[in-house]
Amino acid sequence: MTQTALTAEPNAARTASRHHLLHSLQAVEVQRPAATVAQPAANSTPPLMSATGLFKSYRKGKHIIPVLKGVDFAIRPGEFVAIVGQSGSGKSTLLHLLGTLDEPDAGEIQFEGNRIDNLPQRARDVLRNKYFGMIFQFYHLLPELSTLENVLVPKMIGEGIARYWWKRREHARQATQLLELVGLGHRLTHRPKELSGGEMQRAAIARALVAGPQLLLADEPTGNLDRQTGADIMRLLRSLNREQNLTIIMVTHDNTIAGMADRTVRLVEGLVERVA
Ligand SMILES: Nc1ncnc2c1ncn2[C@@H]1O[C@H](COP(=O)(O)OP(=O)(O)OP(=O)(O)O)[C@@H](O)[C@H]1O
Ligand SMILES: [Mg+2]
Repeated sequence: MTQTALTAEPNAARTASRHHLLHSLQAVEVQRPAATVAQPAANSTPPLMSATGLFKSYRKGKHIIPVLKGVDFAIRPGEFVAIVGQSGSGKSTLLHLLGTLDEPDAGEIQFEGNRIDNLPQRARDVLRNKYFGMIFQFYHLLPELSTLENVLVPKMIGEGIARYWWKRREHARQATQLLELVGLGHRLTHRPKELSGGEMQRAAIARALVAGPQLLLADEPTGNLDRQTGADIMRLLRSLNREQNLTIIMVTHDNTIAGMADRTVRLVEGLVERVA
């Protein structure tokens, strides 16, 4: 991606085929022949995203709370990486920096070889909307919108009102299919406050996927789900990763869930301790 590509259209074919996958995911999972499974890029492939020497502290009154103290991280195209660590170790902080929602105090983040942490706010917003899907630990659904409308928000932002309006039926169809896929087909018109925690989480997952992102940043995507629903969501993420080469960075405190990723990165005392 070049700096100018920040404003370019996403790869339409990839997006279309990802939506096709979403239509037929369950069937694909059952029938997928091993030979067609996408593999993460070889070690020599340049990273899709990398971070070097990330520092981040928060200020609380007179106190400075150091959280990240020189974190290095890299993920190759098509990889599925889990970030684990104790509560308060800085997992969400790191994910927010990688997703350009916040800026590091020091260090650098690159996406497809271009530095992104120092981009102007507007360029970071465009980058996020077009290339990243984000699942937040606390969902951040808009309370006044229905489940379906919440899932459509990235489309509205990405396309602008006129273009969105023109294709609104197609978008609504896609968003409905995604919501059906995460088991929320019967909750389209509910507002977030009328949903359970797990339902809000699944709505947030559908919203993160609706624009066909290249990189998914997921903060505890199964944190509030029962084991069965959590396993279903993990199967969905694994399939998007394997079949569509969706690169995934997932924060989790659950070792079983982390074990389903290709690789685990552990944050300890502000640093990456171990890469499994
Ligand atoms: N805006 C803020 N202001 C002050 N301190 C903050 C702020 N955000 C986070 N912190 C502190 O930074 C540390 C790291 O927070 P972070 O949310 O990244 O942890 P985490 O690893 O995601 O934890 P959890 O597993 O509980 O979600 C915590 O000690 C937290 O209290
Ligand atoms: Mg967190």
